Amino acid sequence: MEDFIHANKLQLLGKLTASLVHEIRNPLSAIKLNLDYMNMAKDDLPNDIKEIVSESIDAFEQVNFLIEDVLDFTRKPSSKENPVDINVVTERCLKIISVSARMKGISIEKEIPENLPNIEANKNKMMQVFLNLINNAIEASDEKGIIIIRAYVCEENSFKYVIWEVQDFGCGIKEEDKQKILDGFFTTKQKGNGIGLGVCKSLAEEIHSDLFFDSTFGVGTIFSVKFRLA
Ligand SMILES: Nc1ncnc2c1ncn2[C@@H]1O[C@H](COP(=O)(O)OP(=O)(O)OP(=O)(O)O)[C@@H](O)[C@H]1O
Ligand SMILES: [Mg+2]
Repeated sequence: MEDFIHANKLQLLGKLTASLVHEIRNPLSAIKLNLDYMNMAKDDLPNDIKEIVSESIDAFEQVNFLIEDVLDFTRKPSSKENPVDINVVTERCLKIISVSARMKGISIEKEIPENLPNIEANKNKMMQVFLNLINNAIEASDEKGIIIIRAYVCEENSFKYVIWEVQDFGCGIKEEDKQKILDGFFTTKQKGNGIGLGVCKSLAEEIHSDLFFDSTFGVGTIFSVKFRLA
């Protein structure tokens, strides 16, 4: 019962985030209007102010994209499946997660070819899986660590697959924990809930993919999501 109360609290937190982000949009639009107004009169402004206005407009666009991404993510996922570009989904995850990576001084490298085939899946569910896995990689990494996100096509028994994976060089997983981590409500973190991977496991199934990992304690971990191509 305690577990359910806790899971419910997290759900509420998600909803609160959505309304918070929603509420931020209105005052932000007012700021944008003022900036646009100043921009229209830019010929009359001194050069340094002109530059500040232009930088502020760029910063606004960034915040706006981030808000759109968070709002889109928090919307109730439909069961709609469309061809999904893994590159685009990864980019959106990186935008959302870049703040927590930056706070830990972690750099994220992306190795995804432009011409990767699209995947028939629900974009939001895919995003939720990727976000949880990247988040775990950040949490496992030391300050100023490196995380690599890659995706590639591979062939096995004449079937083609796209593999998306996130590699960290962090704490790794102990042999005795490997059996437990995907089952849910297992955590080794002080502030962890042990919910992320349980959610990933069921969502991975829903988007017709396999979730697996390879980890060496003290060396690092790779979590992979494997999609079979039609
Ligand atoms: N990249 C990783 N490196 C090392 N350990 C990991 C990694 N990913 C997951 N784990 C281990 O698996 C456990 C379960 O992960 P999971 O994402 O389900 O929960 P959590 O991260 O502890 O908490 P939550 O995701 O609910 O905030 C983690 O506590 C950690 O011990
Ligand atoms: Mg987690």
